[in-house]
Amino acid sequence: SSMDRDTAKQAAAEAAAQLVRDGMCVGLGSGSTTAYALEFLGRRIQAEDLDVQGVPTSFATERRARTHGIPLTSLDDTPSLDLALDGADEVDDAFRLIKGAGGAHAREKVVAHQADRFVVLVDPTKEVSRLGTQFPVPVEVLPMAATPVMNALDAAGATPTLRTADAKDGPVVTDQGLWIIDARFPDGIENPDALNRRLCDRPGVLDHGLFLDMATDVLVGRPDESVDHRS
Ligand code: A5P
Repeated sequence: SSMDRDTAKQAAAEAAAQLVRDGMCVGLGSGSTTAYALEFLGRRIQAEDLDVQGVPTSFATERRARTHGIPLTSLDDTPSLDLALDGADEVDDAFRLIKGAGGAHAREKVVAHQADRFVVLVDPTKEVSRLGTQFPVPVEVLPMAATPVMNALDAAGATPTLRTADAKDGPVVTDQGLWIIDARFPDGIENPDALNRRLCDRPGVLDHGLFLDMATDVLVGRPDESVDHRS
């Protein structure tokens, strides 16, 4: 149920907040699981008077961090982070991820890359044996490159759609002012490395939601509040 799922997310989020130590600079991911982690972390900062600074990965996270009293900084002031905490849409047994259901994957990837440890918080519904079976790969593009990129995705065996939202006519515009193409793979992604290279090589693509060779730790929260910490 969605209540079970929320309990699982909160368990993972609380375990993640516990990994933060006094003096750390922490990457703050985006999405609903990370939102719980921000709440737990904010509480710890106040209760234990911790000196912690966060680098947010979206406007939404920046606002939430402020609400929870987490001091913010940027990669200009602190380019090296001790830890980055973030959710994911899918994770496989090799710690490879699909992210970006909330459209924040480009900043998330930059921040995760700057961190010594990239800790991913999920509930059990996110665990897959093959990437792409439940979620599309979000590809963030320059608006003028949308059609060529969609054609290329189509040629690569994907079904691409331009992301829209009920609350707005036309394409969803990201925090960077760009668009998102969601690439669905009907049978999942056969070769994530090849797709990663193909997308990174394509002009007009800012970044995409495949996170390969990045996660160092995965925290899987369970509805019974236990947490499976894999590293
Ligand atoms: C944001 O764009 C995503 O990469 C999120 O990190 C991801 O969608 C996980 O979000 P939830 O924790 O809400 O599932």
